[in-house]
Amino acid sequence: MANPWFESVAVAKRRARKVLPRSVYGALIAGSERGATLDDNTAAFDEIRLAPVTVGQPSERVMDTQVMGQPMSMPVLISPTGVQAVHPDGEVAVARAAAARGVVMGLSSFASKPIEEVVEANPQTLFQVYWAGDRDSIVERLDRAKQAGAVGLILTADWSFSHSRDWGSPDIPQQVDVKAVLKHLPESFTKVEWLLRWARAGGKPPSLEVPNFATAGSPSPGFFEAYGTWMGTPAPSWDDVAWLCDQWDGPVMVKGVMRVDEARRAVDAGAAAISVSNHGGNNLDGSPAPIRVLPLIADAVGEQVEVVMDGGIRRGSDVVKALALGARAVMIGRAYLWGLAVNGQGGVENVLDVLRMGIESTMMGMGRSQIAELSPDDLFLPPDFTPPDWP
Ligand SMILES: Cc1cc2nc3c(=O)[nH]c(=O)nc-3n(C[C@H](O)[C@H](O)[C@H](O)COP(=O)(O)O)c2cc1C
Repeated sequence: MANPWFESVAVAKRRARKVLPRSVYGALIAGSERGATLDDNTAAFDEIRLAPVTVGQPSERVMDTQVMGQPMSMPVLISPTGVQAVHPDGEVAVARAAAARGVVMGLSSFASKPIEEVVEANPQTLFQVYWAGDRDSIVERLDRAKQAGAVGLILTADWSFSHSRDWGSPDIPQQVDVKAVLKHLPESFTKVEWLLRWARAGGKPPSLEVPNFATAGSPSPGFFEAYGTWMGTPAPSWDDVAWLCDQWDGPVMVKGVMRVDEARRAVDAGAAAISVSNHGGNNLDGSPAPIRVLPLIADAVGEQVEVVMDGGIRRGSDVVKALALGARAVMIGRAYLWGLAVNGQGGVENVLDVLRMGIESTMMGMGRSQIAELSPDDLFLPPDFTPPDWP
């Protein structure tokens, strides 16, 4: 590729589609069922209008902040995702890019790289866990993350194991053996750049192992084995969440909170932060975009807990809208995965730069110099943007 730089996340998405084999790209888009929530996550941002200031805009914009005690150069965090086959450097490339741009890294327990390597690349790493396995194995994973130097924990609590998509699910092999490689060869064959990357990285096909799920003395399980463990574990109660917050000697974020009553429960359980999130539209299809319920949740608990949100962030103005509606910061998922697909670490840095420049220009256009000054008065929302009588 002559010039790998891209000017927007939409361009990165288009290029990622060209670079990646169909099933890898499909696994990034994901979404569940009809994709109504997936679509709403981005559509809701388009419904929000910004109040422009024409003359006398301040010449400087200040956007550094803190989440879970971590200083950040801008109000954006890397949301945890499993990125197995996107790029050989995977989460290490993402962590390096985040460190280069002063951004906090969220590492999935379904990630392809061991936490030790990721923390080395970015000491500001939050480790994400699901409630999977018995308490002893959960504690083992937490201990390992602590020893590796993770500075915080994310408990992702929203998942309903819905596996149907109207546009068809990508074909992910149980394990990457000769049979799987041969089966996926036709779709990979035209993706020369993607194949060359894996060839340069040692010639091995992408592994589907999840090293951060391993317990002491046992090898890294495969993705589907780990998924089976998680699926077979009864969902946590709020007492379990409180227990987990107790086990982790440091700040915990509960990710996936969409209701005001549950945001209050997360505060009571001891969370330091919550992410208003619907898992990027991958969970309960039909739930609204997080940005629609964010103002209600921020109003209710914003004084007691740090409120961040994720889902549908594609440009700097989306970040500004979320901040104006009460978020302390946002987390991004697909945006950086597309950047990673296009150009590895450089592509993730490119996405973060696009967002930073977008935040800057949006704040300038709104006559704001500090992110702390942003408020709902800067926006125009259609009636019923926020669902009435939301629990
Ligand atoms: C391919 C993919 C894998 C994901 N894996 C995880 C995961 O392992 N753990 C987790 O907490 N969230 C996971 N998520 C959800 C993201 O952390 C985040 O909530 C979501 O991507 C935000 O929406 P966005 O993609 O529109 O930015 C995943 C999302 C995608 C798209």
